[in-house]
Amino acid sequence: MKKTVLFSMVAAAVLFTGCSEETKKAAGETATAAKETTQSAVQDVKETAQKAVDAGKKVAEEAKEKAAEAMEATKEAAAPAVEAAKEAVAETTGATEEVDGKALYAKCASCHGADGKNSALNKSEIIAGQSAADLEMKLMEYKAGTRDVSGMGNLMQAQVSRLSDEEIKAVSAYIATF
Ligand code: HEC
Repeated sequence: MKKTVLFSMVAAAVLFTGCSEETKKAAGETATAAKETTQSAVQDVKETAQKAVDAGKKVAEEAKEKAAEAMEATKEAAAPAVEAAKEAVAETTGATEEVDGKALYAKCASCHGADGKNSALNKSEIIAGQSAADLEMKLMEYKAGTRDVSGMGNLMQAQVSRLSDEEIKAVSAYIATF
């Protein structure tokens, strides 16, 4: 009876050891397989990521080139518009210079009349019909404070003191057209 028990134990131990060896081996194989799978998965991910990066780079390159082309095209297309705008501004400025005298006369009309035919405050001579040169000279004298025909020189000085010489010339030329 004792022998049988001992034999059983030995057999069990041998079996156990055998099993254990096999399990270990199987586990080892499983681990290796898992490792390989993981490695190949990592490799795949790396490759995919690299491909994505390369594709992204290419797209960025192309976009850059296209943007540069578009900018060049915009510049070319805009150039005539810029020129036209410049010309328009120049024309407008020129036009403003032409109407300057008329615009400046607006504040004179209340006393001298829209066509310059009123005696301002019943004191001034009629300015319509006078030459541009005469008008300019008289206005320059008012500006300098050296002209006073009927005691209203100061009033006229206040009217023209802030006008530039060019503006006096322009308004005189405009009055001369009446
Ligand atoms: C508030 C009214 C009033 C306004 C506005 C006015 N004037 Fe007069 N202007 C007079 C009076 C008054 C005289 C006479 C001044 C004097 O005693 O010398 C005069 C005189 C003149 C004379 C001289 C006429 C001459 O032959 O002796 C000229 C030129 C003239 N004005 C032009 C202008 C112009 C240009 C403006 C606008 C920038 C203007 N005036 C605005 C009242 C005015």
